[in-house]
Amino acid sequence: MSNNKLVTMDEFTIQETRKFPQATGELSTLLRDIGLAGKIINKQVRRAGLADILGKHGATNVQGEEQMKLDVYANDTMINIFMNSTECAGIASEENDDHVCYEDTYSANSKYVVLFDPLDGSSNIDVNAPIGTIFAIYRRVSEIGKPCTKEDFLQPGNKLMAAGYVIYGSSTMMVYATKIGVNGFTLEPSIGEFCLSHPNIKCPENGKIYSLNQGNTSKYSDGMKGYLDYCMEINKEQGRPYSHRYIGSMVGDLHRTLVKGGIFIYPADKSSPKGKLRLQYECNPMAFIVEAAGGAAMCNTGRILDIAPTELHQRTPIFIGSKNMVSKAMEFVQEKEVVA
Ligand code: AHG
Ligand code: MN
Ligand code: MN
Repeated sequence: MSNNKLVTMDEFTIQETRKFPQATGELSTLLRDIGLAGKIINKQVRRAGLADILGKHGATNVQGEEQMKLDVYANDTMINIFMNSTECAGIASEENDDHVCYEDTYSANSKYVVLFDPLDGSSNIDVNAPIGTIFAIYRRVSEIGKPCTKEDFLQPGNKLMAAGYVIYGSSTMMVYATKIGVNGFTLEPSIGEFCLSHPNIKCPENGKIYSLNQGNTSKYSDGMKGYLDYCMEINKEQGRPYSHRYIGSMVGDLHRTLVKGGIFIYPADKSSPKGKLRLQYECNPMAFIVEAAGGAAMCNTGRILDIAPTELHQRTPIFIGSKNMVSKAMEFVQEKEVVA
């Protein structure tokens, strides 16, 4: 392969799949479907300031949050793409109360289910900051040939087959991870294809940036406050305090953390004793990606990917990013620590 040839995401995925003779290509088809959904959502995001799409939709989602019009558009786009896919038995979305089973013959015979946050960071739409679509793909545990079941969607992250995100930032990128690694593809607008731009992404073992909503400090546990003090002190690794960066869009903050290193934290606090971010739609896919890139993702009691989910919309505290920064943070935030 010459260095200056553009490699499209489809070409890359097919080449990777061929390395495994037993692979059937079904996962590749799903990733292509997600790429298509990303392009459709991207088109709408790019005209957000122009079209009458900007603003509130007037409804609240299952978690009582205000939905933006683009949230609804992105959710509908994802649901329809997977409904028309030949490889998806059903989906669960952050924006829906319950999972959706596709009951046509193709879908019932599919091996995979997909969970997604159709538009993450949507409070940033009005201010032109990065937002994204996060997805998680599991092999179903229910009987193939029958409709999927809730158990398919309540699997721990350590059972993920693939996960990724599309980030609508200064450029549009799709990043996806399988157990063998993480690769990033930038949308080349002239041909409308995602092309390999960030091969074999590795999360640096150390970073210089901590990322969290520091305005919540008064609600943090003593351990978290201690870790914040540590971040703001001169540390021996770099001879100065860490820098603080926080967009308030998990996709944006995590993409930076993945590529440049650092730590992203959404801890438990007095108003959210279970944390804010959703295990199945946000934390598990991001934990899978970051671990596949050599980083770490923990909650107070252990690995994010080892949490056994009991409900679709459950939340968890998260400490994720450069391996050494995450393990330092865990020294401050112990399992038995109480936040309430
Ligand atoms: P969503 O837009 O899907 O509801 O997610 C918003 C999330 C996440 O993207 C971000 O990291 C976090 O909310 C920010 O929360 P705070 O405003 O509480 O810091
Ligand atoms: Mn989100
Ligand atoms: Mn969302």
